Amino acid sequence: MLAVFCSMANYKNPRLKNAAFKRFLSLVLVTLSIVSLLIVSLRINTTPGLSENVGIQNVMEKLNLPKGNEFSIRLEERNRLPPRNIDLYPKLAKDHITIVLYVHNRPQYLRVVVKSLSNVVGISETLLIVSHDGYFDEMNKIVEGIEFCQVKQIFAPYSPHVFTGSFPGVSPNDCKEKDDAGKKHCIGDPDQYGNHRSPKIVSLKHHWWWMMNTVWDGLKETRGSDGHILFIEEDHFIFPNAYRNLQLLVSLKPDKCADCYAANLAPSDVNLRGEGWDSLIAERMGNVGYAFNRTVWRKIHRKAKEFCFFDDYNWDITMWATVYPSFGSPVYSLRGPRTSAVHFGKCGLHQGQGKSNDCIDNGSVNIQVDDIDKVANIRSEWDVEVYENQQGYKAGFKGWGGWGDNRDHQLCLNFAQMYH
Ligand SMILES: *[C@@H]1O[C@H](CO)[C@@H](O)[C@H](O)[C@H]1NC(C)=O
Ligand SMILES: *[C@@H]1O[C@H](CO)[C@@H](O)[C@H](O)[C@H]1NC(C)=O
Repeated sequence: MLAVFCSMANYKNPRLKNAAFKRFLSLVLVTLSIVSLLIVSLRINTTPGLSENVGIQNVMEKLNLPKGNEFSIRLEERNRLPPRNIDLYPKLAKDHITIVLYVHNRPQYLRVVVKSLSNVVGISETLLIVSHDGYFDEMNKIVEGIEFCQVKQIFAPYSPHVFTGSFPGVSPNDCKEKDDAGKKHCIGDPDQYGNHRSPKIVSLKHHWWWMMNTVWDGLKETRGSDGHILFIEEDHFIFPNAYRNLQLLVSLKPDKCADCYAANLAPSDVNLRGEGWDSLIAERMGNVGYAFNRTVWRKIHRKAKEFCFFDDYNWDITMWATVYPSFGSPVYSLRGPRTSAVHFGKCGLHQGQGKSNDCIDNGSVNIQVDDIDKVANIRSEWDVEVYENQQGYKAGFKGWGGWGDNRDHQLCLNFAQMYH
């Protein structure tokens, strides 16, 4: 509309030479452009609200998402509750960095993480979002006990753990392991190694992708924010200086490392604790305590197809092997020379609750936190050491499989469209 008005204004018609008429015309044009801008911004502001009123169910049906069950619909409703502890912490700090903690079902670990978060300097200035894959009472109780900042819980409504007896859970007709779909008349597409889907295993990648889409584009609390968001997991011990260090990294990033897409709390090799040098480090994107902004999220979101069709059930390997390489330049992340987060715990996520390979680990950790880890320990005058051509998963890796079922690909794509 605006373009049309502009070309009208440039149109040289002798009858418009009259100066008074020109002034009148420009007044009209200005008014019209303001009105049309208002209309556009009203549209932008009301669309998400509208979809809430029309009812989530309609939107979901249009998208071809699995039909919600009573429980999943209750979870969706719960996800719209406001954060808790607003009475204790009525205002978030300006430029706060929202923290998203994504968890499954290892309460003995979550207790450790929450305890470590309670000691983080500055945590009360921000919002903690806990994203649950499945609903587990014990996990829930731990989160409900948090009193050190605003907390919002969200539950992945399409978690296989929420669907018993139908996709995304196990359906009676599903092929298992190396079944031959033709001979057994079962449903499912095997992965590149001939194995059929396992709901427990695919739930990890689904949850991560659902959470990313929901936090950036779905939640009222975060969908408008243009700062960084920090992501941590239920087995990441967070040091007291993590939040202050992260604020420094985020503010230094544009100057010190224009090529950096993110800031990391820990080295990308999760077994290392840092070099202890007097310098910042730029290296390949890590998966422990990573923070990035909406610009980067938009780039990731545009690669939904790459993410959703890559035959690997690990979200991080999927990112390293397909999404990051597709950006066209190395994806560096900026961090300090001492770690501010540590990955702990021996139990992998797809062990834990299994019958045959129970992983018993009481979550006791012995992570040394020195005085230097209790206060911000990054200096703004430091230079940046860049690690080029590091080892690790990259373009060309075929994937570990576990993600061959077309229903999983479609569900994943649907998550990317849910809020658009
Ligand atoms: C977000 O981060 C990227 C990568 O560091 C940067 O290029 C971009 O300018 C940032 N966007 C905003 C809005 O700050
Ligand atoms: C947890 O396990 C470790 C060894 O794995 C043991 O030393 C410790 O006492 C246990 N703690 C509890 C509370 O059971």
